[in-house]
Amino acid sequence: MNVSESKYVGASACFHCHQAEYQVWQATKHASSFDSLLGNEKQKYYCLQCHTTDGAQHLAGFKIKNVECEACHGMGEAHVKAHTLQDKTLIAESKMTIPNREKLCLRCHGDKQSMSLEAFDYTKMWGKIIHGKNQKKS
Ligand code: HEC
Ligand code: HEC
Ligand code: HEC
Ligand code: HEC
Repeated sequence: MNVSESKYVGASACFHCHQAEYQVWQATKHASSFDSLLGNEKQKYYCLQCHTTDGAQHLAGFKIKNVECEACHGMGEAHVKAHTLQDKTLIAESKMTIPNREKLCLRCHGDKQSMSLEAFDYTKMWGKIIHGKNQKKS
């Protein structure tokens, strides 16, 4: 497959190979962000754009419920296939690295609508959801 054809696969598809990261994520509020929406808020694109992985796809029927791995790392289908098939070319092309971390967070945390009273502090907030290599270092 080609990376540009990649789709969302959901956090459970990452569990098999990234159990440590999955367990950290599951304990954060990102993993229950959809449950914070009540009644018809669950159908409002405005709320869904920050409280699920992809508001538009959610409304179109694909129930990626929460702010899952792919809300931050991008669509994962190609990455999963690449590592499952040990396809070196596809592994290189489907890296799930994040080019600009702070900008990523501010997509959802920057707005006043985020109900946070404080300005977003990347170091502090990343510290609350830290996973991956950095997690082992600290
Ligand atoms: C797709 C939107 C989205 C992105 C991107 C996002 N977040 Fe969040 N984040 C949320 C939502 C929504 C909540 C609140 C979930 C709830 O309680 O319903 C939240 C909650 C949190 C919390 C818990 C707040 C607390 O005080 O306990 C932390 C920490 C956090 N995010 C850190 C980050 C960091 C760091 C980044 C960037 C690496 C990030 N978030 C990117 C949507 C997002
Ligand atoms: C621009 C992104 C954004 C939009 C739009 C948004 N939220 Fe949030 N929401 C967040 C973030 C980020 C947090 C967590 C703030 C923090 O703790 O720092 C949050 C927190 C919350 C919380 C508190 C959850 C908790 O665990 O205490 C509720 C409830 C909530 N949002 C409901 C809604 C509803 C309802 C809508 C639509 C009317 C909505 N939000 C729209 C980003 C957003
Ligand atoms: C709120 C955003 C966010 C969510 C949700 C999230 N991550 Fe991350 N993740 C990051 C950031 C930021 C980094 C550190 C920056 C980087 O190196 O890409 C990271 C790092 C990683 C790394 C390590 C990369 C490295 O080289 O050290 C792995 C593996 C990873 N995440 C997997 C996952 C998995 C699996 C999930 C879901 C179970 C997940 N992430 C959920 C933002 C997120
Ligand atoms: C079949 C196993 C497998 C699955 C499933 C998988 N990954 Fe990975 N992933 C790997 C391997 C192997 C690495 C390379 C680890 C290393 O070199 O430290 C990796 C690396 C990463 C990295 C670091 C950057 C990169 O691409 O090398 C991130 C972030 C990541 N995975 C996120 C995810 C997310 C999100 C999912 C679910 C959508 C996922 N992975 C599913 C095996 C997998």
